[in-house]
Amino acid sequence: DHLSGFVVAVDGPSGSGKSSVSKQVARVLGYGFLDTGAMYRALTWWCLEQGVDLGDADAVTAAAERFPLGIGTDPDAPDVTVDGTDVATAIREPRISTNVSAVAKILPVREILRVMQRRLINEAGEATGGVVAEGRDITTVVAPEAPVRILLTASEEARLARRSRELHGAADANAVEATRSQVVDRDKADSAVSEFTVAADGVTTIDTSHLDFDGSVEAVLQVVEAARA
Ligand code: DC
Repeated sequence: DHLSGFVVAVDGPSGSGKSSVSKQVARVLGYGFLDTGAMYRALTWWCLEQGVDLGDADAVTAAAERFPLGIGTDPDAPDVTVDGTDVATAIREPRISTNVSAVAKILPVREILRVMQRRLINEAGEATGGVVAEGRDITTVVAPEAPVRILLTASEEARLARRSRELHGAADANAVEATRSQVVDRDKADSAVSEFTVAADGVTTIDTSHLDFDGSVEAVLQVVEAARA
């Protein structure tokens, strides 16, 4: 059960910039890209669609076992479908963001998605020679043997400002306040499954609080280049 291709594992909290940065790093390297958060979101969408009670761990696990997910690993076309329905936009809706932690905290669900994620990483690695996989437990659980493991962090202030710009198109005081409870609450819910403040052994921390997008991409590429040298 070894990994195919060169795997770059990136973890971090919401607002650290890990999705957009990882996607760009994959483009630059010509690698595949896997957004594992999109998988938890798509499963949440499907459970809601089917009326599965998210508080019922057995029912959610049963749904995960027959989850008809399609996920692209081309960084320029990271499409997400469930049973053929395009859900790429729907999985970003607030009703998904507020419910996804309930799904992500169910351990048998995590195990099912971990197996899917390793298979997707291997398929992408075989196709393009490498893959950038991002999430919350890639460096620790999904691909702990990856040659590059990075924790992208950012101060709460910086993460709030970024999320606020994403959600409200602005980072003025009102917009940041409107975003605060959403970000802080989800961090709290997510901390049930992973702890982001301290990097695991062998994981390189990159603090993006004072880096812009290009600077963050460059910092990740430097770690990749050092590992390949
Ligand atoms: O990164 P994101 O906001 O799209 O992640 C959505 C949710 O999925 C988030 O609440 C944490 C969870 N998640 C996880 O538990 N493990 C992962 N590898 C990726 C995401």
